Amino acid sequence: MIPSENEVAIAKTRWNDVVLDSLKKGYSLYTGKCGRCHELYKPGDYQEDEWEDILPKMSRKAKITKGEAELIRRFVITRSIFTISKRKQKQ
Ligand code: HEC
Repeated sequence: MIPSENEVAIAKTRWNDVVLDSLKKGYSLYTGKCGRCHELYKPGDYQEDEWEDILPKMSRKAKITKGEAELIRRFVITRSIFTISKRKQKQ
C-alpha cells in the first residue's frame, strides 16, 4: 500500500521536513531492497523501538546509502505506528 497523507501527518510528529514524496520513496526502497534475503516483514510486526534496533543492522546488510536508509526508516516507522494504532482502534 502506497503511503497516504494520513501517514504524512504521523511522520510530521517525528520529522518536520517529511513530505508525501519522501514516504513514497521510502516505500519503494523498502519493497525493492528489503525483500531480497527474506520475505518483506510487515512494518506493523514490530514497534518503533524494535525497528530502531533492527534497521541499522539490516541497512548495512542491504548495502544502501545513509540517505536511502533514512528514507526507509521514516517509511517503516511511520507505517508501524499507523498500523498499530489502527489495530488498537478495532479492539
Ligand atoms: C543480505 C541479506 C539481507 C538483506 C538485504 C536484508 N536482510 Fe533483513 N535479515 C537478514 C537475515 C540473515 C536475518 C536473520 C536475523 C539476523 O541476522 O539478525 C534478517 C532478519 C530481519 C528481520 C527480523 C529481525 C528480528 O530481530 O526479528 C527484519 C525485521 C528484517 N530483517 C528487516 C530488513 C529490512 C527492513 C531490510 C532492508 C533495509 C532488510 N531486512 C534487508 C538478511 C537480510
